[in-house]
Amino acid sequence: MIQRETWGSRIGLILAVAGNAIGLGNFLRFPVQAAENGGGAFMIPYMISLFLLGIPLLWIEWALGRYGSARGHGTAVAVFDYLWKSPIAKYIGFLGIMIPLAVVVYYTYIESWTLLYSFFGLIGGLPSTPLTDNVKDYLQPFQQFFVEKIGATGEGIFLHPSPETYLFFVITLAVNIYILYRGISAGIEKVAKFAMPLIFVMAIILMVRVFTLSSPDGRNFLDGLGFLWNPDFSALLDPMVWLAAAGQVFFTLSVGFGAILTYASYLKPKDDIALNGLAGASVNEFAEIILGGSIAITASVIFFGIPATKMIAEQGAFDLGFMALPAIFANIPYGQFFSFIWFLLLFFAGITSSIALSQPAIAFLEDELGWSKKKAVLSIGVFLFLSAHIPIFIRGALDEIDFWVGTLGLVLFALFEAVIFFWIYDPKKAWQELTRDNDIQIPKIFYYIMRYVAPGLLIVILLSWGVQKLPERLSSSDIGVWIARLFLILLIVIGVILIKKAWERRDGRAST
Ligand code: ALA
Repeated sequence: MIQRETWGSRIGLILAVAGNAIGLGNFLRFPVQAAENGGGAFMIPYMISLFLLGIPLLWIEWALGRYGSARGHGTAVAVFDYLWKSPIAKYIGFLGIMIPLAVVVYYTYIESWTLLYSFFGLIGGLPSTPLTDNVKDYLQPFQQFFVEKIGATGEGIFLHPSPETYLFFVITLAVNIYILYRGISAGIEKVAKFAMPLIFVMAIILMVRVFTLSSPDGRNFLDGLGFLWNPDFSALLDPMVWLAAAGQVFFTLSVGFGAILTYASYLKPKDDIALNGLAGASVNEFAEIILGGSIAITASVIFFGIPATKMIAEQGAFDLGFMALPAIFANIPYGQFFSFIWFLLLFFAGITSSIALSQPAIAFLEDELGWSKKKAVLSIGVFLFLSAHIPIFIRGALDEIDFWVGTLGLVLFALFEAVIFFWIYDPKKAWQELTRDNDIQIPKIFYYIMRYVAPGLLIVILLSWGVQKLPERLSSSDIGVWIARLFLILLIVIGVILIKKAWERRDGRAST
């Protein structure tokens, strides 16, 4: 067996895992989801989803990764094949490579916008405009700036991003590839040790600044916090709020991507997973609900009020972070500098996630096809560079890829992980595997949650989504949407070919 890489230290591992989880999801996606779904109405389903789905499925993914580490494999392709003696197991496992890789294709692009915006903040090049009573008028220059940069002006299938946007994308991707090339301990772990403290410092600076804001008509941070933290029990009856909350929990914890599994595969076979998993999740939740919840939403509620904040969130995924927040900062002293910090924070949060989401594909090429790190990283780099041209230049593609992999895919893959481990493999052995060699004991109630509650809820979620969203999705005949779907199909075909090749290689070695 080839010697696989391992993490250098426990603190490095926890920071890398927290970096995997803490990302654009915490600071951009969470505020939008929370505001769109009624603030306090969102938080109860969110907390329940965290305990019944997020944490148990996270532990399952850690256990699968550690199981793989003992056998020299770092992706669900091989792990599922061990657990389930069926020829299709490894192909289902491919979801744990395809989902994160397809997410990276657009995630890195969004990450590059944050670098671009932080650069403009630094040189004082973001728009500025005097505060007006009409929120829409006030935000207009910021919307125009965004639309011009990513080239979403006009109609037609093509987007026309500005040259600097493209340049920042190339730089961002190159930085990602370089870190991946340096490897687990010298690349990913080192970056996490530097980036995670920086993220926290920047987030706390912004939080303190937002908490000292007030509006001319007397709103202050308590209004923002009240919006998020005043519970609204009536929302418990709205299935769409539940779907949004569960989706956010998956996205933010990086559960259901396969990326936690790969990170856990670089543990030593007898390392703890229970405490490490919980520590990573706790750091992530602090960054999400305390820091992520206190910056964009709070600032927007103070400046624009609750109805306008909801409207901004409903307008689009990027309006709150890329338009409303710089617009707010434009009206305070040193505003461009605070925008610079905000976007730099997003960039560092983004990059510690995008490297994590790229790693399963690299691990697959190294572990199953025996490629060198250099060959594996360069191939993935070329693949990501070429594929990113789809969301960069094709209208509607980013959203379509995000729906299939970043929303639906996560839940589907998490369901496979739970069912294969706790139903097909063996529930008792799965529990033993999960609870061995840990520094804290996982309470027995989680056995029942992992075996019954979580898979049951996942099935309900998938069915509700199927009924609510699929017909509308599938009825779209946009060319951009179809290009995105063809891309995903192509990815599956490439995956099947590579897995076949890997197993031929394995069988060949076994017979010699
Ligand atoms: N968990 C990562 C995020 O929140 C993917 O962005």
